[in-house]
Amino acid sequence: MPERGRVGILISGRGSNMVALVEAMRSGQIDAEPGVVLSNVPEAEGLRRAADFGIPTEVVDHKKVRPRRAHDAAMVEVLQRYQVDLVCLAGYMRLLTPVMVAAFRDRMLNIHPSLLPAFPGLDAQRQALEYGVKIAGCTVHFVDEECDHGPILLQASVAVLAGDTEGSLARRILEQEHQLYPKAVALFFAGVSLTGRRASVPS
Ligand code: GRF
Repeated sequence: MPERGRVGILISGRGSNMVALVEAMRSGQIDAEPGVVLSNVPEAEGLRRAADFGIPTEVVDHKKVRPRRAHDAAMVEVLQRYQVDLVCLAGYMRLLTPVMVAAFRDRMLNIHPSLLPAFPGLDAQRQALEYGVKIAGCTVHFVDEECDHGPILLQASVAVLAGDTEGSLARRILEQEHQLYPKAVALFFAGVSLTGRRASVPS
């Protein structure tokens, strides 16, 4: 039997999307296993949560490994050491250099809390609220050289309600993120093909 796919998950903070991915791998919704949870922040809460699951954790501290290119090269080295087939950015709050993008081209996904191409970058939920959109949401996309830009794999919409604050909207979007990211990763391992920006899956 072929070995199951292995996923490297990159985090910088609380890691709730990482938990959703790990639970989906453990339940069999995703036909793959977690290889390593890797953070650029030694204090990231998600590292503790990953260790509770018994998953190997690693840190490459961006304050200690400089410049940015060297930090990315060290991250790539860890991911290759764990022989991961797919890299999932899950609240990884660093801009990537071409070193990382090239090492995992078409094998790296990100989740972003907006309906891209609207509202890339930081504070996407606040941007959506301030812009006045009535439908917000989240996107799982392949990672390319530009921030929050690569081919889109899946999206989910979330209605903006009259009394929404940034916090209430972010909470409802996060609930959708926890459903969407596992679905997207399951699709990746089922076989996704890319034609230009268009991702398609076997029907
Ligand atoms: C999520 O909203 C994700 O879309 C964004 O950063 C946040 C990470 O949250 N990229 P968590 O660390 O997964 O809880």
